[in-house]
Amino acid sequence: EKVVLAYSGGLDTSITIPWLKENYDDIEVIACCGNVGQDDNMEDVYKKALESGASKAYVDDISEEFVTTTIYAAIKAEAKYEGKYLLGTSLARPIIAKKLVEVAHKEGAKYICHGCTGKGNDQVRFEATIAALDPTIKVIAPWRIWDIKSREDAIDYANEHGIKVKATKEKIYSEDANLWHVSTEGGDIEHLENEHKEDIYKECVTPEQACDTPEYAEIYFEKGVPKKLNGVEMAPVELIQAVNALGKKHGIGIIDIVENRLVGMKSRGIYETPGGTILYEAHNILESACIDKETLHFKQRVAIKFGELIYDGLWYSKLREAIEAFMDCTQENVTGTVKVKLYKGNIKPAGIFADSPLYDESISSFGNSEYYDHHDAEGFINLFTLPLKIRAMKEGK
Ligand code: ARG
Ligand code: SIN
Repeated sequence: EKVVLAYSGGLDTSITIPWLKENYDDIEVIACCGNVGQDDNMEDVYKKALESGASKAYVDDISEEFVTTTIYAAIKAEAKYEGKYLLGTSLARPIIAKKLVEVAHKEGAKYICHGCTGKGNDQVRFEATIAALDPTIKVIAPWRIWDIKSREDAIDYANEHGIKVKATKEKIYSEDANLWHVSTEGGDIEHLENEHKEDIYKECVTPEQACDTPEYAEIYFEKGVPKKLNGVEMAPVELIQAVNALGKKHGIGIIDIVENRLVGMKSRGIYETPGGTILYEAHNILESACIDKETLHFKQRVAIKFGELIYDGLWYSKLREAIEAFMDCTQENVTGTVKVKLYKGNIKPAGIFADSPLYDESISSFGNSEYYDHHDAEGFINLFTLPLKIRAMKEGK
């Protein structure tokens, strides 16, 4: 039998290889690491997989698919979870899981194994994607089975099985990194009374450490999708990297939140999304000039649901498809350039150059215009405020 293992090169997924071989008869482990732009050396990850006992390893670059599939959809919707989280981990999981299923099919494997704990969202995201793409595949989730309960246990297991460990027993944060974000959970952050330590940042800096001079950036969107930075057309991954660098330089993109996990508990996380924060804000500024009120307000409500679906691992659901189609429809006119001024954690609008804005100076200006007669406002307000008058009368005011 063959099992495809979601492999990262880290401690947990490395010890999973000997564990699988010890616990399943005649099992062949095929490691699969989807490169979604995490800052690891993929050559090392490949070698480590084989050294740890995998018979074969795939380290495929899926970062472009990540950007053009889930990240673009998130930008168009400005999808956030609970109003704050830019969904960095959630957006990558369906792309990684799809890769696992592809490798399983190529290898004729009936099993997929992942290294998520039994307490988190990620297990659900992996398994929901696998279920949607191939319900015949069986999932092995060692963290729900084995006795390894802590980092210390994992290090001991690695030492017993001849796996090289770089991690020390002190490093207690649970991290997840990709092109869009870095998350840090666990450790001292689990105590809500504690301010998070600023030395945990991987992709961001504090406003204090940020560049002392403001900088302008111009982002060009085509139907809601970022295509150019400062007039230069860029490939999808390249553009995100370039905007990340700007966000990092200017102290943008850190949040510290308590969120509601799908599996019931609340958890605290520090998330760094430098480029994403700029792109959402620039997109938001452009949209404000390009989309009519009713569509915009409805879109904002639907974006909440969209974010929940993504967070809950339901990327491969009918509702996600339907909402995405709706979002695409709203983006038809969201084309143009937004200039922003970046400074010490702030993003300030510095010019909107929309191709065909709905904003019309001649109408919005305080002077009179052909389409707006001040006198019309009187009758409008009379009818608009009628319910208020009726209520006041009934209450005897
Ligand atoms: N809480 C965030 C989420 O559910 C981040 C999860 C990070 N995952 C991890 N394996 N460290 O999307
Ligand atoms: C995990 O528990 O594997 C990481 C955190 C999460 O999935 O929410």
